[in-house]
Amino acid sequence: MIKTEIQDAINEQINAELYSAYLYASMGAFFESLNLKGFANWMNVQYQEEVAHATRMYNYLNERGGRVILKAIDAPPTEWNSPVNVFEEVYKHEQKVTELINNLVDLSMGLKDHATYNFLQWFVAEQVEEEASADEILQQLKLLADNTGALFMIDRELGQRVFVDPNATPKA
Ligand code: FEO
Repeated sequence: MIKTEIQDAINEQINAELYSAYLYASMGAFFESLNLKGFANWMNVQYQEEVAHATRMYNYLNERGGRVILKAIDAPPTEWNSPVNVFEEVYKHEQKVTELINNLVDLSMGLKDHATYNFLQWFVAEQVEEEASADEILQQLKLLADNTGALFMIDRELGQRVFVDPNATPKA
């Protein structure tokens, strides 16, 4: 049986992951409104990844005999100044999520919950990737400044991204 403190913290994190999904869906809608379909596709894949993160935690809590409690999800922003501004916010948001995951790791260590500690290592590695991919796109966007042709090239590239369910692969 999982400790109440860990259960509560994982429930909070499920909410944070679902908020992330909501945020990226909102960013996707923003890109749709600009007719940047590739950027919108990237956000849609990101949205699905965040739902998968929440699902991974949901399944883990159940597996450990915990109780999943879903809470209200805050409304995300709906407008940004530019594509660069969107990716500045993505990068900032992922850094915040990394901090939340690290806090969870600290909590599991403090309470000597080795199973949760082990479970969270997947998220620790995932956050390295999440931050790196957001930063890579941000840097590309900063470089192109007002070059519309280059923006459409990036849009085409981001349109190639496909969702691969991380929960469908065997446990690391
Ligand atoms: Fe679930 Fe983007 O971290």
